[in-house]
Amino acid sequence: MEKLNGEERGATMDIIKDACENWGFFELMNHGISPELMDTVERLTKEHYKKCMEQRFKELVASKALEGVQSEISDMDWESTFFLRHLPESNMSEIPDLDDDYRKVMKEFVVKLEILAEQIMDILCENLGLEKGYIKKALYGSKGPTFGTKVSNYPPCPNPELINGLRAHTDAGGIILLFQDDRVSGLQLLKDGQWVDVPPMRHSIVINIGDQIEVITNGKYKSVMHRVIAQTDGNRMSIASFYNPGKDAVIYPAPALVEKEAEDKNQVYPKFVFEDYMKLYAVVKFQAKEPRFEIMKAMETNVNLGPIVTA
Ligand SMILES: [Fe+2]
Repeated sequence: MEKLNGEERGATMDIIKDACENWGFFELMNHGISPELMDTVERLTKEHYKKCMEQRFKELVASKALEGVQSEISDMDWESTFFLRHLPESNMSEIPDLDDDYRKVMKEFVVKLEILAEQIMDILCENLGLEKGYIKKALYGSKGPTFGTKVSNYPPCPNPELINGLRAHTDAGGIILLFQDDRVSGLQLLKDGQWVDVPPMRHSIVINIGDQIEVITNGKYKSVMHRVIAQTDGNRMSIASFYNPGKDAVIYPAPALVEKEAEDKNQVYPKFVFEDYMKLYAVVKFQAKEPRFEIMKAMETNVNLGPIVTA
């Protein structure tokens, strides 16, 4: 990212553009979040897993998932996870087993990630020819974005051929920022029908595009299917932060990105309230995304999207 401030700005913007148009993912280095902070986040996350999550995982997931199972498991993931919400209101003080150090470090980390997310959104705007701040505004709603973090561990699995760490899906929201384990791989994205590894790179942040950016760009940038493969060795850490629309944000394609031709052919993405999209996503997360857009489109013709009632 430091190249965005120098002579190589143009070439770097082009790399990001290509990643957004053709991959849905890119991996950022020199993003401004210090390696020391990332190391502390990693250490405390791993300690927290050992202290508070491992036993629970063994009792609730491991035993249930593989006991007496011979065929592939399609209704659960080999994953230990908890959620932190930061915006519009933090729930960090309500999470029972976080100690003060961990809470404080995570708070510091997510403030940096929020800034990074907004920088990336403006890079996307520039590449798309949208005015600076357009995507941030589009996601804002009445109370600002929803920003949260899913902290996951993928413990070693004796039968990775029977169960995924996390089943294939696209992310529903805006921009996703992932701090993944620097040794234990497992994340893969779907490119031209093939699963491709997203390799661990120490101190990088992996960025991927969610369904809402696909809608706002009218498909110029697409959310991409990804999954986590369970591994027989090593415990994979994954800290994914989701910069998503506010729940009452009305999401629709940026008029500047809807070509006349797309309009004529009725190839315009739907307009909807983000909360309605999430209700649908909660039920069909692990299915293809296209039917979700079609359902929202069908709803759009039935509902008059007037001003949002917030009172
Ligand atoms: Fe995801």
